[in-house]
Amino acid sequence: MENLLKLSAETLAKIDEVVPKYPQKRSAALMVIHLVQDELGAVDDTACEWIAKRLELQPINIKELITFYPMLRENPWGRKHVRVCRTLPCALRGSYGTCKTFEKMLGVKEGHVREDGEYSLEFMECLADCGQGPVVIVDEKTYENIEGERATKFAELLLDGKLDGVEEFKSYEESLNQQIPKQ
Ligand code: FES
Repeated sequence: MENLLKLSAETLAKIDEVVPKYPQKRSAALMVIHLVQDELGAVDDTACEWIAKRLELQPINIKELITFYPMLRENPWGRKHVRVCRTLPCALRGSYGTCKTFEKMLGVKEGHVREDGEYSLEFMECLADCGQGPVVIVDEKTYENIEGERATKFAELLLDGKLDGVEEFKSYEESLNQQIPKQ
């Protein structure tokens, strides 16, 4: 099938591998959408048509999935994507204030991408670390207890590109790696 999306050989290989694992091609739709989104950052109309063709479906069958699931997107997020948890345990510990601080300091409204494409902000449901809220995820790294003054400092470091390596804001993933003894 013609590679109009210019997907990498790796993504195409993954798609070719995943589709036959399902008894019906249609059942692979979510997997294929995720693979395409992982590479392109979003699934626009062209991508939607390509996936539909690959799975012998109509574009509407793909579009309805993309518009239904909040983690699927028709337009890409910013180069740095910041998520703030808004579910009750984090909300009780100040996540609404954290989101407002980020809106002001990063210059982007929640649910949007900044005009220059640098930052996007998402105020979303539980990020699965409820005991250490407010929880913030930047790209793939999780940060805990980000509220009040800490939220301001966090945003300053993020804007300066200096967040990595700051002991006070070590991500959950970095802490975990340090706990795993090297072989
Ligand atoms: S409530 Fe915020 S991470 Fe679960």
